[in-house]
Amino acid sequence: MAVMPAVSLGEGNTPLVPSLRLAPRLGLRRLFFKLELCNPSGSYKDRFIAAQLSHILPAGVRACVATSSGNTGAALAAYSARYGLACSIIVNQNAPAGKLAQMQAHGARVLRVRDFTSSPDVTLQVFAILERFSQQANASLVVSAYRYCPQGMAGVESLGRELNHPDLRHVFVPLGGGGLYSAVCRGLHGSPALVHAVQPEGCLTTVAAWTRGDDEIRPVESTTTISGLAVPFDIDASLALRLLRQNGGTAYAVSDQEVYQAQQLMLELEGIYTEPAGATALAGLLRAVQSGQVQPDDDTICLVTGHGFKDPASITAAAARHPDTLLLPSELLDALQSSS
Ligand SMILES: Cc1ncc(COP(=O)(O)O)c(C=O)c1O
Repeated sequence: MAVMPAVSLGEGNTPLVPSLRLAPRLGLRRLFFKLELCNPSGSYKDRFIAAQLSHILPAGVRACVATSSGNTGAALAAYSARYGLACSIIVNQNAPAGKLAQMQAHGARVLRVRDFTSSPDVTLQVFAILERFSQQANASLVVSAYRYCPQGMAGVESLGRELNHPDLRHVFVPLGGGGLYSAVCRGLHGSPALVHAVQPEGCLTTVAAWTRGDDEIRPVESTTTISGLAVPFDIDASLALRLLRQNGGTAYAVSDQEVYQAQQLMLELEGIYTEPAGATALAGLLRAVQSGQVQPDDDTICLVTGHGFKDPASITAAAARHPDTLLLPSELLDALQSSS
């Protein structure tokens, strides 16, 4: 019998680059960025999809249905194109243009559902429909969370393992549904590093429970505009909360504004072309530096989870700070001289 080669598009083993200009401004000597945006479809979700497809394809699955803020969908669409899987992807009405284009360009069927991921009621209703449909239609339900796809999420634990180093002190992780945070903690099992969770104020699930000091994940009406981090009820939030408490890391709630500012810093001072969710870890680090939780010699890593190409609106807003100029050739020399 022919053995199927491992499902892969070259995901994982992403670069860990030192901060060159931001670290000195923050008074830090050992700050690094883990560039998950270098994965083939531009986010860490490729690790998830490669592992999930390795699990379902040998079982004969030929169709799947997924929920996504856009990155799971983009990864699934790419790998589905490569392995001949039919996929339908449910996103909300505000999914960023870059993510939508990726899914569609790879031939996925994209269904945008109003208020999905902002309203907990709508989100629960959609999940119920998908669970029913996936059983009836023999289609695999793909959701990047341990609750639904533990084998796929085990693939994300490689990210935590790649960070492991005896001197590592702090890791900052953006938190939406909580699967990513949980996978990073599990991959770092046995490491003394503190793994901090950073969630937008407009969608606090895990972080709110951590702050209150109880175990109840309360559903929220999400108002965050940070694509990828709006998950209004407990998918993996209670798992993430449990792991956060075990690890001893801190939970940070940051405003969308702080996230966009962190994105600008990464664009302008580090040359890192990230989507807003990918700058959320840095927004948390900025808080930690202010509160003195990170010391100058602490080895610190911020995860940069997704690519700037995915969210052109946020990049356009950052670019507007540096407008271009349209000139006649005769005006060029004056313009060059006046800007120097
Ligand atoms: C770029 C990016 N970063 C972080 C996350 C958060 O992952 P999780 O929902 O597992 O907490 C997501 C989820 O979609 C994402 O797309």
